[in-house]
Amino acid sequence: MLTIALSKGRILEQSLPLLKKAGLFVAPDELQSRKLILNTNIENIKVIILRASDVPVFVQHGAADIGIAGKDVLLEHGSSGVFELLDLGISKCRLMVASNEKQDLNLNSLKVATKYVNSTKEFFHAKGKQVEIIKLSGAMELAPIVGLSDCIVDLVDTGDTLKANNLVARELVRNISSRLIINSASFNTKHKEINVWLKKIEKSL
Ligand code: ATP
Ligand code: PRP
Repeated sequence: MLTIALSKGRILEQSLPLLKKAGLFVAPDELQSRKLILNTNIENIKVIILRASDVPVFVQHGAADIGIAGKDVLLEHGSSGVFELLDLGISKCRLMVASNEKQDLNLNSLKVATKYVNSTKEFFHAKGKQVEIIKLSGAMELAPIVGLSDCIVDLVDTGDTLKANNLVARELVRNISSRLIINSASFNTKHKEINVWLKKIEKSL
């Protein structure tokens, strides 16, 4: 049995067609049901659909053998117990520092609101800058508007969300895309089975 963990939302929208191209699909009635473990066209493969940040947790602990998650989420989770094997090139966006156009980013103690604490720390430390990080779970764009922070570190794609909130992208932290991850123990115990699907998915990219 192989269990594949997929992130809800925009990654799901792009990973299902990718898996279908590789020969694995979940029937529409399974997807629309309230079931948490979904059957696929392959008898010994199940799919579970999780919040993005839970995907590496399930894979790390072996509750799922394979997962698809954004690099943003993987950087926050860390690589323990998980091998990152493929860059799927889907759900591409950029992790960026953004602020009001006039905000001075060279302040001595810059206040940064983000849900990406590790990536943010690493980015500013590499620049030799001390920052105060304010951890949020969403709606980061609100923080500079209400004076909670001087800037944010968040994902940017079209830039529409920043624009709608009078913010501008200032500095690139890193480019983001979704990755295929494998539980490190499963990689050994189910090597043959996993390899077959790895090859099929790689071919369909
Ligand atoms: P949660 O369910 O934990 O609140 P979320 O709201 O961040 O997670 P999504 O917005 O669906 O969930 O994002 C899931 C993943 O999609 C992110 O981890 C990132 O890799 C990618 N992503 C997020 N925003 C964008 C975007 N604007 N454009 C492209 N990819 C994005
Ligand atoms: C993500 C991200 C930004 C937005 C950027 O949020 O947190 O707010 O996308 O995309 P854009 O540059 O194309 O506007 P999402 O829509 O996933 O909502 P969330 O804040 O609930 O995660």
